[in-house]
Amino acid sequence: MEQSTKPIKTAVVGLGMMGGSQIRNCLWKLPQYEITAVCDPFSPNLDACRLLFSERGLPVRCYADHREMLDGADCELVIIVSPDYTHEQIACDCLAAGKHIRLEKPLATTPEGCARIQRAHEKSGRLLQIGLELRYASPTKQMRDWQPRLGALKMLTCDEFRPPFLPKRGMVDDWITKKRYTGGTLLEKNCHHFDLFNWFAASRPASVYASGDGAVEYADTDVLDNAFVTVEYENGVRAMLSLCLFAPKKVAGSSLNELEIGLIGNRGRLELRGDDVFVWDRETGAEERWHYARENFEAHSDDIIPSMIELADCIRNGGEPLTGIRAGINSALVAFAAERSAEQKRIVTIDEIERESGLRFIV
Ligand SMILES: NC(=O)c1ccc[n+]([C@@H]2O[C@H](COP(=O)([O-])OP(=O)(O)OC[C@H]3O[C@@H](n4cnc5c(N)ncnc54)[C@H](O)[C@@H]3O)[C@@H](O)[C@H]2O)c1
Repeated sequence: MEQSTKPIKTAVVGLGMMGGSQIRNCLWKLPQYEITAVCDPFSPNLDACRLLFSERGLPVRCYADHREMLDGADCELVIIVSPDYTHEQIACDCLAAGKHIRLEKPLATTPEGCARIQRAHEKSGRLLQIGLELRYASPTKQMRDWQPRLGALKMLTCDEFRPPFLPKRGMVDDWITKKRYTGGTLLEKNCHHFDLFNWFAASRPASVYASGDGAVEYADTDVLDNAFVTVEYENGVRAMLSLCLFAPKKVAGSSLNELEIGLIGNRGRLELRGDDVFVWDRETGAEERWHYARENFEAHSDDIIPSMIELADCIRNGGEPLTGIRAGINSALVAFAAERSAEQKRIVTIDEIERESGLRFIV
């Protein structure tokens, strides 16, 4: 059968920081996609986007409501880049309308919301990719390639010390600093890192202990701005996240530079530090270094582009995205346990979250 090479007609829902960037820095650069519609209920952002298209002489249909868009627009894929609290409803509506979706992380703000998206996804038979683009970043891919050199993985660390979230303007100002709109920082921000933990550990997480609070930047809100989180996996791997959202920026213009990742196995050690990935052999002490040069610093575009190339390939030729429903659910489950652990100051098992919600870690 002849494969279609026509661009995939695509709608973008949510035209704030990430939506705008994904249009300019990713979708417009990829011939696999043609944006036919955009949607945002916040008129300043919708108007700004309309202007952007008209300056380029590109036709686009503009909507303030995603349901009207689903009724009227010609698209087979919807890229959902709206705030976390809107993911559940918009994702379920798009899947019910027979669209493939690329949904920003986190999957949803509650376990029940994640389970609802999972059911809608199963029923639809459409593709779902979740925006956990760290897996597509060149340095993490390099770490993954070198991981076998470590022997049996034992410890994982991830340190993110960075400045606070940028201010948000939209239907709810600064929604990102309010737990009811995000499910909390450890879900909103750190589902990325829990996804990497799950991916590298390749096992089911058993329990989570988190200690954190809003100490400086978010002292007046109900989200955390600093935390330590430990995750114990059934295969004996233990992982530790250190988070600080009130640290000065270390390297101007960089995104992944604020993140340091370490893996230690019984035969060696692997580390992402700054722009370099290092691997050390435990027996010989030999070191190897891999350097990466980032091209586009805005809103993780360098990492989102390969994920969008993969998605187009899956839509046209079949296959499952690397960060499909499984990555979305599994990363969120660790985050739900972590949020509860920090709040209740006790160890929380993944079993506990599963029992209550019906959501299941997918091995
Ligand atoms: N993958 C990443 O690295 C990464 C980084 C930042 C943000 N994000 C995610 O991207 C999403 C958007 O974040 P942002 O930083 O662009 O936020 P933002 O507040 O800058 O933009 C969100 C936009 O969505 C619009 N919106 C609100 N309700 C809507 C609705 N019902 N339908 C359509 N649009 C609606 C808002 O008006 C706003 O224009 C969030 O889910 C966030 O977690 C991901």
